[in-house]
Amino acid sequence: MTRPEQTDIDNIVEQLAQSKKYREAGICEQTIRDIVITELERQRNPKEAIQAARKKLHEVVALYLGDPDYAAATRQLEAAFATGNPETIKATCAEILRIHDSTNERMMLVDTFYAQIFEITGRPKVLLDIACGLNPLTIPWMNLPPDASFYAYEIHQQRVDFLNRFLALQGIGGRALDQDILVDYPAEAGDVAMLLKEIHRMEKRRRGIVLPLLDALKVRWIVLSSPTRSRTGRHGVKEVYREQVHEILVDRPWTITEIEFENELVYCVDKSPDHA
Ligand SMILES: C[S@@+](CC[C@H](N)C(=O)[O-])C[C@H]1O[C@@H](n2cnc3c(N)ncnc32)[C@H](O)[C@@H]1O
Repeated sequence: MTRPEQTDIDNIVEQLAQSKKYREAGICEQTIRDIVITELERQRNPKEAIQAARKKLHEVVALYLGDPDYAAATRQLEAAFATGNPETIKATCAEILRIHDSTNERMMLVDTFYAQIFEITGRPKVLLDIACGLNPLTIPWMNLPPDASFYAYEIHQQRVDFLNRFLALQGIGGRALDQDILVDYPAEAGDVAMLLKEIHRMEKRRRGIVLPLLDALKVRWIVLSSPTRSRTGRHGVKEVYREQVHEILVDRPWTITEIEFENELVYCVDKSPDHA
């Protein structure tokens, strides 16, 4: 298509942002705009572009992975933290984490997941969780240093507000940000950035989109992961996704250490200048 007019873009973005499900979740406008512009450039006419943008957004926003009732979950967390009992807090976080597919799958690993990762990367003082979903609620299992800071990035405003309440209750520095990290790279520097179970999905949004993000991250370590089974559990996807990760990183002089968990393959990527 020829270069779209700014008003066409604005109108389509507005139309999609105002659809009931995206308005309720508060989907980041940056994401909608980026996808609309890409599809207007790719498709033959605005009608096809809107259709394609809707399809892409459905996958990127992924409401089908599950969300708690955020008001109720906030009350649950407040009650749990009020007890001051670490086991009660963990049990409440676990209950909420089980509502989202990605973290539900991680709960069987969570007791040893971070210990094994941080054995390689070192225990981070500043940790970034990009495209985080509900994963920040696994902080009680991370054993971070008492003065640690945590930055979480998401495109659902509702989820970001909830995570900020959780981080305050947890008493950890840092914050959750409503930010499309593929459009606007994280500005915060840290020791480790986690990008868990999302690379394969981001590459579907636009092939080649992940590497510039990895280059831009101001951290020594990037912890990537991919699932080993499809969402239905019917197909093994471990090798396909492993190949994809190695292909993305092929031209970088970074060291990759893999850790294979039962349902998640983790790649600890050292982008330290020592290896350049
Ligand atoms: C498959 S879930 C994985 C969540 C989490 N990383 C985990 O493994 O538990 C992907 C999450 O990334 C978020 N997301 C997708 N694209 C994003 C982007 N460009 N910037 C920030 N968040 C994004 C989605 O909203 C969704 O919550």
